[in-house]
Amino acid sequence: MQILIVEPDLEARLILELSLKKEFDFNIHARSDAIDATALLELFDDFIAVISVAQNKNEETAFKLSQKISSNTLLFVLGESNITKDDNVFFMDSLPNTKQIIDQIHSKIISSKKEENEKRIDSLPLKALSLEMLNFISCTPVDIHLKVKDKHKFQKYLSKDTCFEQAELTKLEMLNYKNIYIAEKDFIIFLDYITERLSIVFDSSELSKKSQKEVTQKFFSYLAELEMKPAVVEMAQKTIDSVFEEIDSEKNIKILLNKIFKENKDFKYQSSMMTAAISIAMVGQFSWSNNNIKRDLMFCSFLHDMFLSNKDKILIQSEQQLNNSFLTDKESVLVREHAKMSFDFLGRSDNIPQSTLKLVKHHHGAVSGIGFVQKDLSSAISEVEKLFIISESFSHQLLSSPKGKVNINRMAEKTESLYSDKVFQPYIEAFLKCFKS
Ligand SMILES: [Fe+2]
Ligand SMILES: [Fe+2]
Repeated sequence: MQILIVEPDLEARLILELSLKKEFDFNIHARSDAIDATALLELFDDFIAVISVAQNKNEETAFKLSQKISSNTLLFVLGESNITKDDNVFFMDSLPNTKQIIDQIHSKIISSKKEENEKRIDSLPLKALSLEMLNFISCTPVDIHLKVKDKHKFQKYLSKDTCFEQAELTKLEMLNYKNIYIAEKDFIIFLDYITERLSIVFDSSELSKKSQKEVTQKFFSYLAELEMKPAVVEMAQKTIDSVFEEIDSEKNIKILLNKIFKENKDFKYQSSMMTAAISIAMVGQFSWSNNNIKRDLMFCSFLHDMFLSNKDKILIQSEQQLNNSFLTDKESVLVREHAKMSFDFLGRSDNIPQSTLKLVKHHHGAVSGIGFVQKDLSSAISEVEKLFIISESFSHQLLSSPKGKVNINRMAEKTESLYSDKVFQPYIEAFLKCFKS
């Protein structure tokens, strides 16, 4: 960057030149008239400021220069002139106010650096992640950006290797920020770091049962944003094992379901817990049950709807319910295809068994993983898949029942009408049996 001074008076020119040299590490050119100065302006285009006398004898010096400089250059006019005023033009007496000139140049440097930074960030490919990802960490291994409100621009919010307080997160939530943005090249580094932090937190013996549950809930909520790397699958396995222990330690299904209902406020997690608890209780009644099948049911309960974020979408179980919903076309496609999407996503890992993947793909009864159960296709899906479908139907109805008004027989009738094929009957009965016992 450079600065140009145009002042015919030698002494005034030198004083100004020296003051600016003391302050800035730029090339500072001093000229006595517009002819000389114009040549410089034509030669270079990186002048941050031009300080010029308004007039030199008959020459409209400042006006001539104003025709040559870019709209981004600061112009300080010393003396009377009829140049149009704008944000970058400053008028002062013929005796220049050096302090004001220095201050304005400084703030111009700051704002051009900011613009430069924004330009640089805008040209980076960025990936969005939920703001809540910051819940898992207190320092960031990569630069984190935010989208500038009402502008399609990004701004660096946290620099690589900085630590932050959780209050920062609350502040952003209050300002209604939903996402953070990470450069594509840093994405894997960031996710690896999150996974590592999660595992440490989860394994920590000091972690109370309550916080462990919070970590588990958050982990499942944002699983779709992570990559199916071995560490993530291992983490999923660990969390599911701990939930299984919780479910397995309570043999009375009514007490267990009540507890799940009371202790978990997040609908998606509540629904996963209910489906897991009901399917594990139901499968115990069948001779073909074994530990691998229980593991598949547990995994599927927590991962099958990973791409659905809200209750309205999660509750849809048939094409008719989907058609009657208020979802947009895009949301409807997501609901129709979410089973296949989860199957594809989880399938990127070599560590998830095929039986689990198949259960995820078929969890609405469609072999392709797209759409819902169709009459003649019911026999094409396995026994455990039918059991899962029925357990989820009951889980949704239990969660949707008004408090204390659970009518099991009415719930069974509704499930029968949704899944009228007789192949589902043994599982409806299995549910009634474990609930009525
Ligand atoms: Fe579901
Ligand atoms: Fe689903």
